[in-house]
Amino acid sequence: MNILVTGGAGFIGSHVCESLLSLGYKVVCVDNFNNYYSPTMKKKNISEAIKHKNFVLYELDIRDKNLREIFIKEKIDRVIHLAAMAGIRYSITYPEIYFDVNVHGTLSLLKLCVEFNIKQIIFGSSSSVYGNNPNLPLKEKYRPTPLSPYAHTKILAEEICKFFSDYHNLNVICLRFFTVYGPRGRPDMAVYQFVKSIDENKQITVYGKGELSRDFTYVSDIVDGILLSLKLPNRFEVINLGSVNSVKITQLVSIIEKNLNKKALIIDAAKITEEAESTLADISKAENLLGFKPKISIQEGILKYIEWYKNENKYE
Ligand SMILES: NC(=O)c1ccc[n+]([C@@H]2O[C@H](COP(=O)([O-])OP(=O)(O)OC[C@H]3O[C@@H](n4cnc5c(N)ncnc54)[C@H](O)[C@@H]3O)[C@@H](O)[C@H]2O)c1
Repeated sequence: MNILVTGGAGFIGSHVCESLLSLGYKVVCVDNFNNYYSPTMKKKNISEAIKHKNFVLYELDIRDKNLREIFIKEKIDRVIHLAAMAGIRYSITYPEIYFDVNVHGTLSLLKLCVEFNIKQIIFGSSSSVYGNNPNLPLKEKYRPTPLSPYAHTKILAEEICKFFSDYHNLNVICLRFFTVYGPRGRPDMAVYQFVKSIDENKQITVYGKGELSRDFTYVSDIVDGILLSLKLPNRFEVINLGSVNSVKITQLVSIIEKNLNKKALIIDAAKITEEAESTLADISKAENLLGFKPKISIQEGILKYIEWYKNENKYE
């Protein structure tokens, strides 16, 4: 089976590509290596996958009309759509590029999926669509209340997926990822920034007195959820993927301090209104439909992340 992974050189995408290759799939990776963060990091992310005979890389934007040629040439069977402008804060300053890539880009990809009779599309959505809903744990049936341009683009893209599924009979699974962390983590995310700064004895900025909490989910658990979704024959589903592990930012900082054996230098900052107070996934749907079971605790995940971080720095 030939699987197109959009955003395959990114954090989550590169792990997905490696897992698919290890399972014997042919992987067609499309990524535009944009400079939201270092393209060199993205090249490094796929440095193992690229050696594999079943891996093909196209440096291309999902909005580029040449994407059509890839569908023809590579005989794509399924699509895992992870290419996006990610990151809440940047979306507040630059909403245009978020709507363009995350909404219009998804729309043009779905049109190709109809044209080429693609059997299934898995779309990487986000827990940010729930906004500040205090009714934890968050269930898929709750009304979305997006707070940022990024979150708006994700819910719009889900709705476009639903339309294509209803109208064009496409099988689409929208997976709402809850704060993903792990090796190759995006440099704009808290875990990456805290580990690097604490290790280098630099200050870290903690918003809202560290009282915010997140359902931090280790990347291999997200990859498991994506792979399990490949077996789901349903026409359309929206499914949460989280670890059901609510961790306050103060707790996260303590776990990192303990593992690095260093003390954080904290600068307090006001809470950002576009970000939720707390997130926690209800994963009963993922358990029932996919047999999803997150395996990695925050303590174990941070330990693994720090091991990776130390090895990376050794070779830089
Ligand atoms: N990391 C998280 O915590 C998290 C949480 C919820 C949802 N998500 C979603 O999961 C997906 C992957 O996120 P990530 O954290 O790995 O981010 P990432 O930025 O590391 O990966 C996204 C990749 O998409 C590529 N890309 C961006 N625009 C593109 C375009 N127009 N054409 C082709 N490629 C393009 C980027 O170069 C990048 O390699 C995204 O859709 C993101 O919104 C991530």
